[in-house]
Amino acid sequence: MEPQRLEEIIGRYPTPTGKILGILEHIQREMGYLPKDVLKLLAKRLELPLSELYSIATFYSFFTLEALGRHVVTVCMGTACHVKGAPELVASLKHHLGVEMDETTRDGKFLLTTDDGEYTLTSARCFGACSMAPVLRVDNKIFGYVTPERIPSILKQFGWEGNHH
Ligand code: FES
Repeated sequence: MEPQRLEEIIGRYPTPTGKILGILEHIQREMGYLPKDVLKLLAKRLELPLSELYSIATFYSFFTLEALGRHVVTVCMGTACHVKGAPELVASLKHHLGVEMDETTRDGKFLLTTDDGEYTLTSARCFGACSMAPVLRVDNKIFGYVTPERIPSILKQFGWEGNHH
């Protein structure tokens, strides 16, 4: 994002109340995530510690600090789905997409993107579709009663062509 564009966005949110949230939301909408260099620039411009922007960005699950892939695969890790085999779905997805996590974050969340930027694998809490557990979502499409064996055919609907990712 050009510094000038950032200025334009800042200019749109003149009141202190909700100003930072408004600006962050705007950047996220425009770029799909909150890039580090833009946050740095914003912190400088608003004369705020960068850490404050980070704590806001990590507090609201709406924000993401990493670029997402073209398709986002979200596995429900709510209790019902967990019991019905969500961890096996995650293992299968990691295998087929060729992504590996260094370590699970403290709260069990993960966000992994394939090297080619095509797919992001992430987790979420209950989708409210527990009766179809285990459930996963690709972009805006929900899949229920998913088994690890069904993963390749689901991915193929989203352009996946095999294990070379
Ligand atoms: S726990 Fe997965 S949809 Fe409710």
